[in-house]
Amino acid sequence: MFYCGLLLLKMEKILVFVSTLDGKTTKWDSPLVRSWSSPEDQAYFSRLWKESELAVIGRSTFEADPIKPAKGQHIVVMTRNAHKYAGKEAGGQIEFTDESPKQLVKRFEQLNKPRMLIAGGAHLATSFLQGGLIDELWLTIEPKIFGSGNGLVARDKLDIQLKLISCEKLNDAGTILAKYAVVK
Ligand SMILES: NC(=O)c1ccc[n+]([C@@H]2O[C@H](COP(=O)([O-])OP(=O)(O)OC[C@H]3O[C@@H](n4cnc5c(N)ncnc54)[C@H](OP(=O)(O)O)[C@@H]3O)[C@@H](O)[C@H]2O)c1
Repeated sequence: MFYCGLLLLKMEKILVFVSTLDGKTTKWDSPLVRSWSSPEDQAYFSRLWKESELAVIGRSTFEADPIKPAKGQHIVVMTRNAHKYAGKEAGGQIEFTDESPKQLVKRFEQLNKPRMLIAGGAHLATSFLQGGLIDELWLTIEPKIFGSGNGLVARDKLDIQLKLISCEKLNDAGTILAKYAVVK
């Protein structure tokens, strides 16, 4: 008798954001993050994006700044109205799904993907955090204060404990890239 076992590697789920000192991830009502994030953050994010085989975003983030998949990249856009996006799949590289975050994570874990980049926005981040599905938060903090705008998470009751892994100053103005592990 043969026993055929599958070795599943742990898929890292990384939440990535750029925010201001007052925790804003959009400037007022504008969806254009690149209009205020530093060139150093943009260069770092561009590298990270290109090397991420698998990235997940919310429908509003997709509509805010239509993205182009990098070579070999698979992008999942989460929406409860996936049928509306027929024809926007960019040759199969962009997928629109109404799966829950838990179902999505399970599916890609079973495909042995090493890493899932969760690139916002706040509503999606909240769902993944509520589900206990985030391993690390990679947060760029820009030394700016906007007063008004989206937060890192949606207004909801959360209680997430994190622990600093590393901290790097990206430029003279003091843009900080801080990486945190979610304490589970
Ligand atoms: N500073 C940064 O790093 C950063 C990063 C990303 C985005 N942003 C900004 O954030 C804004 C968008 O953020 P947002 O919070 O409004 O929207 P979002 O999180 O990008 O998208 C929310 C939408 O995702 C869909 N969705 C499907 N399943 C979901 C689930 N389980 N949980 C939550 N959403 C689910 C729903 O779309 P349907 O209504 O279609 O069902 C929902 O309305 C944009 O302005 C963008 O530029 C900033």
